[in-house]
Amino acid sequence: MQPDPARIEQAVALLHAGQLVAFPTETVYGLGADAANPVAVARIFAAKGRPASHPLIVHVSGLAAARDWAASLPASAQRLAETFWPGPLTLVLPKARHVLASVTGGQESVALRAPAHPVARALLAAFGHGIAAPSANRYGHISPTRAADVQEELGDRVALVLDGGDCEVGLESTIVACLDGRVTLLRPGAVSRSQVADVVGPVSDPDADAPRAPGRLRSHYAPRTPLAILDPTDLQREVAAAAAAGERIAVLARGATLPASESVLWRRLPDEPGAYGRALYASLRLLDRAGALRILVEAVPGDEAWAAIADRLARAATRDSESAAGGVIDAT
Ligand code: TXA
Ligand code: MG
Repeated sequence: MQPDPARIEQAVALLHAGQLVAFPTETVYGLGADAANPVAVARIFAAKGRPASHPLIVHVSGLAAARDWAASLPASAQRLAETFWPGPLTLVLPKARHVLASVTGGQESVALRAPAHPVARALLAAFGHGIAAPSANRYGHISPTRAADVQEELGDRVALVLDGGDCEVGLESTIVACLDGRVTLLRPGAVSRSQVADVVGPVSDPDADAPRAPGRLRSHYAPRTPLAILDPTDLQREVAAAAAAGERIAVLARGATLPASESVLWRRLPDEPGAYGRALYASLRLLDRAGALRILVEAVPGDEAWAAIADRLARAATRDSESAAGGVIDAT
């Protein structure tokens, strides 16, 4: 979907006035504010109900603009940006001095991304500064992949929602830290670990030496209905048992064929990671609204092409009292 110049102008005026504007990116919708305005940035945290310690991604138009936000640009970061920007890759770099502590969560690093969506690019070009933006959902909930989902999440907490259609990737960006001479994968996404490694060589895991703060391990990217991941055999058995008991459940299937039953709402996603990822969050929203006791999800393959999907499903299946499996990035 192409940008409407009048809407972009309106969005830029709101950003200059310190207001929040939601905008489409190719990954998910972002909740944007002027990254240099502390009052505007504070509004993001209030609108999301997000703890202040969680840093934000600053969206920029490209590598030249990124230099304004980073104290230095390691060669690895420069090569990654040249290869994958604009696109679904966020780089965590040493922060420039002027970057607000509220944007970095008080850390010495800043996360930067140049998005590819034409509406995001038009907005960044017209605004001419960095736009701080987390995903445009309430804290801990599923990221929005359609303008209507932003409305559902945030309502009048946001001054304007720019509609850019359905997000093409549908999952949050890959996050890679280029700090202290190491390249570390913090969150899997559409740019895979091996694509990163092809450009910069070995990629570390965050848990190799970084102790994790307990708050980073909790459930996120989650629907409100309890969610479980099952392999096809267990899924068939659970669905049959629920149908027999008349228990209302919702099922997200991939290959499995399920029995027709009044109490079972099911939806099949494509057995291909790109198309699956694009449809996942909207499908979870749909199943979450069904008034089911549980959402059962058919497990996805273990290969790299499915890594980001497997990561988000594992987090969606984790309740707040448990630990998430792997990764250190909290969904926000
Ligand atoms: O695809 C995306 O990345 C979307 C679109 C809108 O760009 N944004 C997004 O933002 O997912 P958010 O805030 O929901 O998730 C960003 C993650 C958070 O988990 C945050 O902790 C992490 O990035 N992050 C931000 N700055 C960081 C930093 N300096 N060091 C480590 N992690 C950081
Ligand atoms: Mg988020």
